[in-house]
Amino acid sequence: MGKKLLEVRDLKTHLFTRRGVIKAVDGVSFSVDKNETLGLVGESGCGKTITCLSILKLLPNPVGQIVGGKIIFDNVDLLSKSEKEMRKIRGRRISMILQDPMTSLDPLFTIGEQIAEPIRSHQNLERTNLRKKIIEMLKLVKISAPEARIKEYPFQMSGGMRQRIVGAIALSCQPDLLIADEPTTALDVTIQAQFMRLLKEIQQEFNMAMIMITHDFGIVAKVCDRVAVMYSGKIVESAGVRDLFNHPLHPYTKALMGALPKMEEDMEKLTTIDGQPPDLGHLPPGCNFAARCPEVKEICRCDSPILSEINDGHVVSCLRVQ
Ligand SMILES: Nc1ncnc2c1ncn2[C@@H]1O[C@H](COP(=O)(O)OP(=O)(O)OP(=O)(O)O)[C@@H](O)[C@H]1O
Ligand SMILES: [Mg+2]
Repeated sequence: MGKKLLEVRDLKTHLFTRRGVIKAVDGVSFSVDKNETLGLVGESGCGKTITCLSILKLLPNPVGQIVGGKIIFDNVDLLSKSEKEMRKIRGRRISMILQDPMTSLDPLFTIGEQIAEPIRSHQNLERTNLRKKIIEMLKLVKISAPEARIKEYPFQMSGGMRQRIVGAIALSCQPDLLIADEPTTALDVTIQAQFMRLLKEIQQEFNMAMIMITHDFGIVAKVCDRVAVMYSGKIVESAGVRDLFNHPLHPYTKALMGALPKMEEDMEKLTTIDGQPPDLGHLPPGCNFAARCPEVKEICRCDSPILSEINDGHVVSCLRVQ
């Protein structure tokens, strides 16, 4: 076991919308060790992005509010930090590659200026050293001819290059924790694989921890050490990657894995998960997955399961397993 870098305890983030209160994050607990990669997986809308935006306290304002829990980063509770103190942590100690990287670049500024921005706000470098640092970052993310590229605008780059620039911005201050929110969905598979390999290399060089949000179990298998499966605002299962792949316990995890295409299967046999996740504004009593669960029992519709450890480091929230 490594040393804990981040510990999220019973985090509750609610969104106060005109439609009512959405329990986007409803009692989530997990931890990330130094140098470790945690995968966060789950269907669209289950609360992955809101969980990670909560860590950085960058929630949609004033809709999103953290209403409970603790976020301990390097032994300090981030929820007790002021906005001014958070600004020193964001980009410097915890960085995030946002879900839609193509829109996180500003079309009006050169890529050099955009990489300089976080470096300028966290480090006091004079002009020539700043330029050196930007070129170093471009080299790190394998952009060729960085001296020339530094003056170019995002529209002059391919999608894969823009992705790497976004990576360079996030990594420019050597964060201890990088949160990558579906960083490759807009890229074709070869570029996806290259970007993932690059992130892994940089992770080893910087001794960085990562939270990798993804829909793709292929990425989880290649990149992550541990994985947490999220369903309607809660973590339903978490384990080491090998353990989770070999012995998935929660019916939702099993269903997600059943929904993976396999080469030898014909597409008609592909399992899908019937039904829709519950409305996070009107959660039913009992287990949130009960209405879609192929293994549901009567008790699941009235009692709420809690996350319990079944094997060493393997936790699950299911009344059938407990
Ligand atoms: N700005 C917002 N205003 C209102 N509701 C929001 C807002 N952002 C997210 N939500 C709601 O919060 C819930 C969790 O959203 P979140 O973006 O965390 O999902 P996700 O797991 O990241 O999904 P995806 O895989 O599609 O990115 C969803 O029900 C979503 O509709
Ligand atoms: Mg998301």
